[in-house]
Amino acid sequence: MVLPVYVYGMSVLRKVAPEIQEDYEGLDQLIADMFETMRASDGIGLAAPQVGKSLRIFVADTSPVSEDKGEPELKDFKKVFINPIILDEWGDPWSFEEGCLSLPNVREDVSRPTNIRVEYYDENWNLIEEEYDGIRARVIQHEYDHLDGKLFVDRINPIRRKLLSARLNAISRGKIDKDYKIVFPKK
Ligand code: NI
Repeated sequence: MVLPVYVYGMSVLRKVAPEIQEDYEGLDQLIADMFETMRASDGIGLAAPQVGKSLRIFVADTSPVSEDKGEPELKDFKKVFINPIILDEWGDPWSFEEGCLSLPNVREDVSRPTNIRVEYYDENWNLIEEEYDGIRARVIQHEYDHLDGKLFVDRINPIRRKLLSARLNAISRGKIDKDYKIVFPKK
């Protein structure tokens, strides 16, 4: 089932999400719904707070951008990250234009370290530790931020953020033109 996406201004996006328990009921369905929602809205990553669930889980599927980004390994990067921990980040910070389903029509350059080491549980509760770089690392860093109540606009320079403030306010008032279902704060 495609779930509505919660956008900028909703408090769930600003919470530090709690860990998900192994006996969480409906986990398989939540994962399936998150993948379906991500595909329906042309996203390559989606975190549970973005569908109104304050839980430490996100999904990623970079196959749609594997060709235009020229990173062949993006084709097979389709994963669920449960209770992830970024253990380490290193490498020269690089600038990359990020977007977010919770910030419709906003794209900004964000600088983050190149490499990460991440630990997480997969959908079968196997504990996995992996290293990533490039766009896969970037997707994980972006989605991981959502679990801590952070959005990419928190990481851009203050001048750019000021220039965006009218657009962000418009999003939080529901003045958005998007073809996926959204939830915005009611005033
Ligand atoms: Ni996002």
